[in-house]
Amino acid sequence: MDTNEAYNRIKELRKQLEEHNYRYYVLAEPVITDREYDELMDELVKLEKEFPRFADPGSPSQRVGSDISSEFTQVRHVYPMLSLSNTYSHEELADFDARVRKNIIEPFEYVCELKYDGTAVSLTYERGALIRAVTRGDGVQGDDVTANVKTIRSIPLRLRGSDYPELFEIRGEVFLPREGFLKLNREKEKKGEALFANPRNAAAGTLKLQKSSLVAKRPLDCVFYALYGEELLEDTHWGNLIKAREWGFRISGEMRKCANLDEVFEYIGYWDKNRLELPFDIDGIVIKVNSLKQQKKLGYTAKSPRWAISWKFSAERAATILRSIDFQVGRTGAITPVANLDPVPLSGTTVKRASLHNSDYIELMDIREGDTVFVEKGGEIIPKIVGIDSSKRPDSSQRLKFIDKCPACGVNLRKDPDEARHYCPNHSGCPPQIRGRLNHFVSRKAMNINMADATAGQLISAGLVRDPADLYSLRKEDVIKLERFAQKSAENLVKSIDESRNRPYHNVLYATGIRYVGETVARRLAENFSSVDELASAGVEILAETEEIGEKIAASIAHFFEDPVNRQFIEKLKRAGVQLQRRDDNLNKPAGGALKGKKFVVSGVFENYSRDEIKEVIRKNGGSVVSAVSASTDFVVAGENMGPAKLEKARRLGIPVISENELEEIAGKQKS
Ligand code: IVH
Repeated sequence: MDTNEAYNRIKELRKQLEEHNYRYYVLAEPVITDREYDELMDELVKLEKEFPRFADPGSPSQRVGSDISSEFTQVRHVYPMLSLSNTYSHEELADFDARVRKNIIEPFEYVCELKYDGTAVSLTYERGALIRAVTRGDGVQGDDVTANVKTIRSIPLRLRGSDYPELFEIRGEVFLPREGFLKLNREKEKKGEALFANPRNAAAGTLKLQKSSLVAKRPLDCVFYALYGEELLEDTHWGNLIKAREWGFRISGEMRKCANLDEVFEYIGYWDKNRLELPFDIDGIVIKVNSLKQQKKLGYTAKSPRWAISWKFSAERAATILRSIDFQVGRTGAITPVANLDPVPLSGTTVKRASLHNSDYIELMDIREGDTVFVEKGGEIIPKIVGIDSSKRPDSSQRLKFIDKCPACGVNLRKDPDEARHYCPNHSGCPPQIRGRLNHFVSRKAMNINMADATAGQLISAGLVRDPADLYSLRKEDVIKLERFAQKSAENLVKSIDESRNRPYHNVLYATGIRYVGETVARRLAENFSSVDELASAGVEILAETEEIGEKIAASIAHFFEDPVNRQFIEKLKRAGVQLQRRDDNLNKPAGGALKGKKFVVSGVFENYSRDEIKEVIRKNGGSVVSAVSASTDFVVAGENMGPAKLEKARRLGIPVISENELEEIAGKQKS
């Protein structure tokens, strides 16, 4: 490969990997298998090594994905949380073994363990008591999830015995056993909520819930696989884990010591065949050098230990024929192509349908009706098509043409060049969109109205509801006329609708279904714009200055309020008596606080408060916090080490820069 080609390929790989990172870590909607991801990453790492002049600290090869969220306190790991390098083939594993042998001349042994498919936590124990639990985050710092972790029954809060080190960390995988996962999804389905894609996402999502009481209701479990500390008792990994078991930790019952590579392969072969018998998901096997002294000698690369490696199982695959493609319309009008397959058994269920994501995906893979395709179920509920057997393509086969009209309402579809999906723009007249919006509106985190999807369908076809605001003019007499409704059930529905008039403003904002306005964004908006009118008149620039609201969200909000149909919908909600402004008791905000209407930028490190506390003080006194300094900023609250660019901009625009003490003063000394 010449330099030019290498440069282009490196650029392309970085772009692709970034995209897959985002899909995996942010959207939790990966479109390629872990293996394909690893192959792309391997190629990039190799090329970057071969052509060091193209090194870039921002390359995806230089970082591990992050799961940091802003709601938890961030804690720096004393020992960074690294990851393991993955292998998929016998040769790669043999290479690993050869590398170990080259560095360790004396005899050594491996410990083989299951690779639990959950989410990693690191717990700190001091004098036998659990003092902190932190997620992996970006490997350097993670979220403090102590309160949530304490709800996991298998995690000891105090240790047994007395021979544990005064201070140590223990790491393990928090996971949801398969049965608990299925039960959780059944409950979610009943409530009409979005399902978790797999037990791993369910475990990670649960650990990040804001209320530990909710966490406690889910049967999380945790298995421990590593100890860290300055005064560990034993000189082997195995020995330390056995000790940990004595102190009350759950360690894997399936660990084995292996004297050589053959025994390792035997272990792998056994679990590859029998893993479905386990009550939880594993996605591979971890192979570790047992002696800590030898581990130390082997050391680490920037991202992973040289003394351990993980063997990943390939996801189960089946071949079948793709008969036809349906196009589904979501509540926002997004079109999702779905493949209808000849039924085929795969990992214990029969697969009949598979998602095809979007038109780009179909085009990229050149998937056609009549093709023999490979489907995979990487723990996800919806199987994916991962490849085509082109040798079996019928001669008559034709390239698939993506539809250009909405399959539900016939209106011409639109596609933004920056987006992968097609959209039906007929928001107010397209039946599946109306139904989707209605279902979203009543869902638990929105208006929490107890109404089934079937009822939504009935109400729409009976012409009783055209947009969710129509719910508020439903009378019991109307509902009773619907099939399957009786006096009591009709009464309950009307009552539930009536009660939703008291839902807090931020839930209502979420319920309106503005694109990209999820729960957290809705909360932020409610904190910064005291009423829907204020929000509607804010305009893109002011919206984008709001903390956590990027340009894309800002544009979507502004676009929503530009549409007269949406404005009418909001007016109808207002007339129905729904909360479209902040009730000050919701946010403990004194009416007309001393900082009312003022916009603040907070920057730097403070002496008496954390940055979040400063923001609390501002919000509780009626002010709002924005992220960027602009002409509409009223004050910059500056701590130590404030960014020089911000300071300079504030000076240039003549915006007062104040200290935390001055803030207290103008807020009337009302701390939070
Ligand atoms: S040892 C230095 N052992 O896999 C890495 N990890 O890619 C030490 N995992 O973040 C990790 N089961 O979440 C280890 N038996 C096991 C594991 C395991 C699952 C996860 C863990 C880690 C990731 C490594």
